[in-house]
Amino acid sequence: MSAVAHKLEPAATALSVDRVAMHFGGLVAISDMTFSVGEGEIVSLIGPNGAGKTTAFNIVTGFLTPTQGEVSYRGLNLRGMKPQAIADLGLIRTFQRTSVFPNDTVFDNVMIGLHRRGRVGVLPSVLGLPRVRRLEAALKDKAAELIDYVGLGRRAHDLAGSLSYGEQRLVGVALALAAEPSMLLLDEPVSGMNASETHTFVELIRKVRDRGIAILLVEHDMPMVMSVSDRIVVLNYGRIIAEGPPDVIRNDPAVIEAYLGQGVKHA
Ligand SMILES: Nc1ncnc2c1ncn2[C@@H]1O[C@H](COP(=O)(O)OP(=O)(O)OP(=O)(O)O)[C@@H](O)[C@H]1O
Ligand SMILES: [Mg+2]
Repeated sequence: MSAVAHKLEPAATALSVDRVAMHFGGLVAISDMTFSVGEGEIVSLIGPNGAGKTTAFNIVTGFLTPTQGEVSYRGLNLRGMKPQAIADLGLIRTFQRTSVFPNDTVFDNVMIGLHRRGRVGVLPSVLGLPRVRRLEAALKDKAAELIDYVGLGRRAHDLAGSLSYGEQRLVGVALALAAEPSMLLLDEPVSGMNASETHTFVELIRKVRDRGIAILLVEHDMPMVMSVSDRIVVLNYGRIIAEGPPDVIRNDPAVIEAYLGQGVKHA
């Protein structure tokens, strides 16, 4: 079944990136980048190494301020907003390299994440103990639910350091989901996953989207990108060279050229 079959007309715009440029000294990492992601849409940003994909994520999530151009989310211009303020709007990212606490269990890793993002740290001093216990119990339920949701239920009580790299990435996704995103930005989520883990991950992405969460995906795994994306934006040397549904992108001469030039990883 086609990933776009459910969508008969374009979704309302959620994220809009408008004429963005990013210069690092003399290096032009991104130039004149314009694209959008609709509500509930899965859009992939692809391109060879160094094309500017992670830089685009860093701009959208407020880790970098663009040299030029604007980013807006649900009509709100994000210029000048700190990463936490942008995360509070529901724009939540994962990182290209996942870091877990290797000597804590998967469950404890997720609990640590939930504690960090909640305001529970200060609560023991201001709340009575029964309420703290209830809150802690609710967090534990939430952690268990998230771990099941990403498919790590059977590994919950294993040390995070004992997980495969692909499974560790799922911990990162659980932590991102804990932040209750309205849009999830995934930076190479299936790198390090085997074919069957990747297949399961694609199901997970669809499940997340079916909850109405839009997804902006950066990924080198072309079969995965082709199977899951509604639309694909192709960057090369910081410029968008093509944009469209998978079938159009797959046959686009400029895209084929850009990838052949690099020696395609998975295409
Ligand atoms: N903070 C920074 N300071 C200076 N240069 C940077 C910075 N971040 C990225 N760059 C440069 O910008 C360019 C784009 O990098 P970016 O990490 O966005 O690429 P990418 O598309 O994510 O690549 P990959 O597929 O390897 O992850 C590269 O030339 C990189 O070296
Ligand atoms: Mg990158």
